[in-house]
Amino acid sequence: MNGFSKRVSQILRPGTGRSLVVAVDHGMALGPLTGIKNIAEMISRLDATGLVDAWLLTKGIFRYAFKPLNNPGVILRISGGATIAGPELTREGQTATMEEAMAADADAVATSAFIGSPYEHETLVGLARAASECRKWNMPLLGVVGLGKGNEEKKKDSRFIALGARVAAEHGADLVKTYYTEQDFDQVVAGCPVPVLIAGGPKCETDLDTLKMIHGAIDGGARGIVMGRNVWQSPHPEALLAAVHGIIHLGFGVSEAADLLDEKISLC
Ligand code: 5RP
Repeated sequence: MNGFSKRVSQILRPGTGRSLVVAVDHGMALGPLTGIKNIAEMISRLDATGLVDAWLLTKGIFRYAFKPLNNPGVILRISGGATIAGPELTREGQTATMEEAMAADADAVATSAFIGSPYEHETLVGLARAASECRKWNMPLLGVVGLGKGNEEKKKDSRFIALGARVAAEHGADLVKTYYTEQDFDQVVAGCPVPVLIAGGPKCETDLDTLKMIHGAIDGGARGIVMGRNVWQSPHPEALLAAVHGIIHLGFGVSEAADLLDEKISLC
């Protein structure tokens, strides 16, 4: 086993080849969102379940708010530099170095590319450069496919999402995070030569909707989730994690997962 496969095995569970990654990197652009205002507490709560395979976080949170009880994987975000208060959220650049990632003993790094945005070129070149750096260190790269303002409706367009996933892989991503398209998601996966994981986007109306989305993605060939708001904005995040774990790693259907969710809630 080399350093690359050792790190990947900290993210994709060797037994299933899938992963339940919780994303808590939102504050870098969106500030203290509901659910992760007290981010240290939320990380500790969710990590205590033992069900989180890996975390996606920034260097600031890694340093000051990340105190896991278990030994989860760490995906360090190395792009950022833009906020919702600024002129252009897609204008991301490199915000952490490979040395910082190695010093943090990260299992992967993540960088965004905003397909169809004014900063498509810069962010794709940034992803490609990060991939070249990653190769030197046997560090896996998660390509975070973003869409940018005005492209939100494209989230559901499987041809557009397939384009973004493939482009990220072609520029050197070893894993791709993108959006779930209800229709033809299998075509997104089929067109991407590296594992595809889904983000959740804004909170769904119900936890059942979240479970349906995750089940649909796994059914279409996704290798897991890199999800934030739908996990930690749930009224019952620990119970939800148990149900999501069931879908990702135990092959649960939606009703089995929903039953487990209800059972766990009733015990709270
Ligand atoms: C924030 C991100 C998030 O990691 C990503 O969008 C996943 O979170 P969510 O499931 O809440 O969409 O890239 O910058």
